[in-house]
Amino acid sequence: MADHRFAGEWMKDDMVLEPYVTPETIHKLESFKMTDEDIVFAAYPKTGITWAQELVWLVCNNGDIDKARSVPLDSRVVYIEYKEGGIITGLEMLQERPHPYMMKTHLRSETYLSQINEGKVKIIIIIRNPKDTLVSMYHFYRMHRGLGHFKGTWNDFFELFKAKHLLYGDYFRWYSSWLQHKDKPNVMLVKYEDMHHKMSDVINDVSTFLGKSLSKPVTADVIQHLTFDSMRQNDMVNFSNDAVFNVDISPFMRKGKVGDWKNYFSEEQSSFVDKLYKDMIEAFGVILEFE
Ligand code: A3P
Repeated sequence: MADHRFAGEWMKDDMVLEPYVTPETIHKLESFKMTDEDIVFAAYPKTGITWAQELVWLVCNNGDIDKARSVPLDSRVVYIEYKEGGIITGLEMLQERPHPYMMKTHLRSETYLSQINEGKVKIIIIIRNPKDTLVSMYHFYRMHRGLGHFKGTWNDFFELFKAKHLLYGDYFRWYSSWLQHKDKPNVMLVKYEDMHHKMSDVINDVSTFLGKSLSKPVTADVIQHLTFDSMRQNDMVNFSNDAVFNVDISPFMRKGKVGDWKNYFSEEQSSFVDKLYKDMIEAFGVILEFE
C-alpha cells in the first residue's frame, strides 16, 4: 500500500482532527465492495452535503416527499466513516443492509481509489466556494460539542485554516484530491451555488447522471421542499435533535446564503484565499460563484 494512502500518514500530515476515523476503518473502506447502484456523496464539511443528499434521495425515490419528511436523512444516507453511537461505523451498519447504498463521506479520494478505478459506484462531489465554506465552518465549530464549542473569534478561526488545522484537513488539498476524478463517467460535480441559482437544472443533471426522471409537477414540489426555509423547519434534515450540536449557539441551517463571507473576511484574508482558489480549484477548470 502506498504510504500516502495510509491513514496514519496523511492524517498526521494535515493534522486532521477527526475522532471517529481510525486507520482500521480506512483499511476496511479501501477494499469495501460497492455496486453500480450505490452512490457516494463526497464533500468537504459545510459545503451543502445535507442539501445535496436530500435532493438526490428524492430524485432516486420518485420525489417521495412524504417519506423524506418521516425518515431522518441520516438513516437514509449513511455517514460511512462515522462511528454511530461511538460503537460501530457507518460501514459496519451497511454490512447488515442490502444494496443499493447511499453513503456520505468527508474523507479524501485516496481512501476510495479502488472503487473510483473500478468505475461502478456513482460518486457525487459537492463543492462550495471556499470563503462561504469557511464562514459556515466557523459557526459549525462554535455549535459543535465535539469541537469544544470553539470560543475564538473569526480571526482566530482563520488562523486555524491557514495552519491547515481544520476538521478533515485543508479545503484546497481536499478538493485537489477529488477534483482530479471529476471527469470520469461515474463521477458528477454539484456546486452549492448552482443549487441556489438554478436548482431545476441541477435536478435535471442529477436525474440524467443517475438514469432517473421526475415529472414536472413532482420536480416543482421537490424544489419547494428543498428551499432553505422548508429545510430549516424540517426536523428530518435540520439536526435540531442531534446531541452533538447546540443549535442555540448557531443552527445547523444557519443562513444558507451565497456571499455571507463578505461580513467576515478582511481584504488580506480574501486575497489569501483568492490565490489558493486560483491555483488549486480554477486549475481544474472549476469556476465557483462567490456572490
Ligand atoms: P450556512 O452555515 O452558510 O448557512 P453541510 O450540509 O455540508 O454541513 O452544509 C451546511 C450548509 O449548507 C449551511 O450553510 C446550511 O445552511 C446550508 N444549507 C443546507 N440546506 C440548505 C438549503 N436548502 N438552502 C441553502 N443552504 C442550505
